[in-house]
Amino acid sequence: MHKTPSDKPPARFSISGAEASAPRVALVGFGTVGSAVAKILCERSDALLRLTHICNRNVERKKQPWVPSDVVWTEDFHAILHSDIDIVIELIGGLTPAEELVRTALKAGKSVVTANKQLIARHGPDLLQLASANGCQLEFGASVAGGVPVLPALRTGLCGDRLHGIAGILNGTCNYILSRIETDRIPFSEALEEAQARGYAEADASEDLDGGDARAKLSILALAGLQVRVSPGDIRARTIRGIDAVDFDYAAELGCTIRQISRADLKKTTLFAEVGPSLVPASSPFGRVQRNLNLVLTSGEYGGDMAFLGAGAGGNPTAVAVVSDLMFVAESLSAGPRAHRLLQLLSPKVSCDFETPWYLRFVVNDQPGIIAGLAAILSAHHLNIDAVLQKPGFDKAALPFVITLEPCRDAQLHPALQEMSALPFALRPCLCLPILR
Ligand SMILES: NC(=O)c1ccc[n+]([C@@H]2O[C@H](COP(=O)([O-])OP(=O)(O)OC[C@H]3O[C@@H](n4cnc5c(N)ncnc54)[C@H](OP(=O)(O)O)[C@@H]3O)[C@@H](O)[C@H]2O)c1
Repeated sequence: MHKTPSDKPPARFSISGAEASAPRVALVGFGTVGSAVAKILCERSDALLRLTHICNRNVERKKQPWVPSDVVWTEDFHAILHSDIDIVIELIGGLTPAEELVRTALKAGKSVVTANKQLIARHGPDLLQLASANGCQLEFGASVAGGVPVLPALRTGLCGDRLHGIAGILNGTCNYILSRIETDRIPFSEALEEAQARGYAEADASEDLDGGDARAKLSILALAGLQVRVSPGDIRARTIRGIDAVDFDYAAELGCTIRQISRADLKKTTLFAEVGPSLVPASSPFGRVQRNLNLVLTSGEYGGDMAFLGAGAGGNPTAVAVVSDLMFVAESLSAGPRAHRLLQLLSPKVSCDFETPWYLRFVVNDQPGIIAGLAAILSAHHLNIDAVLQKPGFDKAALPFVITLEPCRDAQLHPALQEMSALPFALRPCLCLPILR
């Protein structure tokens, strides 16, 4: 049951012995997630952690009556580091000044818990080394899939396996938009506006729509699950902007739907990785994920496939992940810091040259010879057509139809796509989506 926040500070007039010896925690960033974390810490009665400082810019306007009066509200991060705190929670987001704050805290021997995907995707391996060198810990369980405990599972529950594949629906905004187009066959622009009106998408949603957010998360999952160092910029990201309601009609003909899928497969010294809209079977776990939920599937050499599903964002679910990390660090502090398992990292070659069947959707000005023209190009590139689909009832001057291809590599298909999109009857570049079975 949801608790209604009380306006009164919890009774904490005298500090018990257990609480006095509990790890002292400073929270930096009192926004959506930070305030939810503070709430959980203030309402806990087990005294395992003690919130001592809350740091935010222009902090006066942030003060809340439900925070106990002995918690120090401050704008001075460096003064916190000179106090006797044990753990810093970084929840301001972005790279500047978060990166510097985290580095400074780790150098001062303070363990850090963060939900900052940008920071970990870009600097995770270096920051883990820094933590280890300074005898403290860095935890980032909330940085991917918000409240879904997939990173802690990779860190502990699955560390006995040798994982070789991770795939996920990692961006709730894209999933909301695609599943809304699927359900009501509304245009892409209408689904985006609806997501923005409901607070699921930002005014500038490029990071979500064009795959930047998901590939940062995929690089963190690859770091934690596959022990590889991969920069987000090295992972190809395809946008979902070209997807139309008609693509869901054609996908349904193939028993499929469309989702933004992030996938990484480690094969020897190559990491095959990419993010982008893909056809998935409608009855598969990915096909059934609706609205803004996240799903991550892992594949291990010994344990096989595992699935993690839940709320990928939101103040409370993300705060639970942050507090769980805090408790893990607090336990480690009493047992002595634990070395992070990620310090032996591979730096593989990164490739998007997956071999899959493909869905090609054309929009053409209808005339004789279209199929013959496309088939000639495909044949010249040794690509096999699997099926041709054309639904009736469309305007012949802007006719959408689909060709599916038998499995081939991305690199083999790419030059053919360019040639086909340049044909005179093609009104727009061909939409090309992998079909994941
Ligand atoms: N929200 C989610 O659902 C979610 C899910 C997963 C992960 N995360 C991650 O969690 C982190 C926090 O997200 P959020 O949604 O809580 O963000 P938010 O609501 O924007 O909160 C950020 C807080 O940090 C403060 N802040 C920003 N820059 C600062 C600075 N230079 N010095 C001091 N304080 C500063 C902001 O103050 P102002 O009020 O002045 O802006 C604000 O109170 C991010 O890394 C985000 O990616 C969030």
